[in-house]
Amino acid sequence: TSNKMWGGRFAAGPSAVMQEINASIGVDKRMWQEDIMGSRAHAAMLAATGILSADDVAAIDAGLAEIAGEWSAGPIEEDLALEDIHMHVEARLREKIGEAAGRLHTARSRNDQVATDLRLWVRGAIDRLDQGLAAFQRALLVRAEEHAASVMPGFTHLQSAQPVTLGHHLMAYVEMAQRDRGRLADARKRLNKSPLGAAALAGTGFPIDRDMTARALGFDAPCANSLDAVSDRDFALEFLTSCMQAGLHLSRLAEEVVIWASQPWGFVKLPDAYSTGSSIMPQKRNPDAAELVRAKSGLFLGALTRLATVMKGLPLAYSKDMQEDKTPVFDAYDTLALSLAAMTGMIEGLGFHTDRMKAAAAGGHSTATDLADWLVREAGVPFRDAHHITGRAVALAETRGCLLADLAIDDLTAIDARIGPGVFDVLTVDASVASRKSFGGTAPDQVRARIAAMRAEI
Ligand code: ARG
Repeated sequence: TSNKMWGGRFAAGPSAVMQEINASIGVDKRMWQEDIMGSRAHAAMLAATGILSADDVAAIDAGLAEIAGEWSAGPIEEDLALEDIHMHVEARLREKIGEAAGRLHTARSRNDQVATDLRLWVRGAIDRLDQGLAAFQRALLVRAEEHAASVMPGFTHLQSAQPVTLGHHLMAYVEMAQRDRGRLADARKRLNKSPLGAAALAGTGFPIDRDMTARALGFDAPCANSLDAVSDRDFALEFLTSCMQAGLHLSRLAEEVVIWASQPWGFVKLPDAYSTGSSIMPQKRNPDAAELVRAKSGLFLGALTRLATVMKGLPLAYSKDMQEDKTPVFDAYDTLALSLAAMTGMIEGLGFHTDRMKAAAAGGHSTATDLADWLVREAGVPFRDAHHITGRAVALAETRGCLLADLAIDDLTAIDARIGPGVFDVLTVDASVASRKSFGGTAPDQVRARIAAMRAEI
């Protein structure tokens, strides 16, 4: 038999395969609350504008409220013939209130509904991810404050470059997360318009009030073009882009945790709660959570690519292709929320071996730049010459197998007579980090100031 909702012109129903490829209920049931919310707003508007009678709308609204109660308590009974969440709601409503249910769909289309539901869903997802990112930032802030003056090696090319503070290093991720939040907030602003009332594509002859439904659903305004309202998913793509960027940030931190936890480095001890053992090697403590966050971050680019490819070249307005928009959005949200929770727990529980970090910071002649800077400041040597002189001192330390700071003053003056004993004051890692007081620099005071500023902002 043909479909109850749209089968008027059909003599026969769809094949089983057609039903299977066509149905989206398995995925879009996740938006049932948004769908009911949208329907209640639409129904209230139909009453307020006199398009439906107050009695019909009272029955519709009570029925929808009842369905919401049912589906909060237990699973939705899925029926592939009912295709999607929108038709499941209407069919259930008809079971409850009879004929009046058929009036709800006046002056609207499933195209409006799906665009509205997904915007509402993504808006909620953005708000939850913002909370997740803020929690991640707070965890980093706590650890950064604890280690505002703990010295570790700073790297470029993963080669020892200059000493930095652990607090400064962790705060770099707080800055990244702040921009991730900014991107999500920015996407939220643009998505917060209501497609409801586009009435499939062209608008409607019924005297609807789109401002009323927009307001009721917390949108800033109705979408201004009915074709655009139902046929763009740029808001979802922006969401996925933001997720991707946040995921990239998390994957870099995850990679650092993996490196830091490796025995030759020994910078951190992984928390029991966020690591696993080996079935054969009893000594093992593996950074699985960090590795999985690192690996899962690939999903975001996949999701973005997937939806971008769906949208590419679609003519206006709605095409069924767009039904494929939800899986990437839901997957990206789930993965980012879980990755954030895992990295937050990981950061909270990491044990930092500050002694190892400090010892490593002193290796690799990491204060060579301080020697060059000293020559510039105290002896008026042009930086290029100071760089060259320091390079020779490093070469000498290397042949001696000692640190720059362990060279005798005579060795240094033999390289350049302008080097004096005062230079040893700047060759320790503590002196090095303390001297970097420029705005945004690694000096403990700068780090503390930034922690305070970010606490106020978060
Ligand atoms: N299940 C559809 C989707 O998710 C709803 C819109 C259906 N519209 C239509 N004209 N068939 O995109």
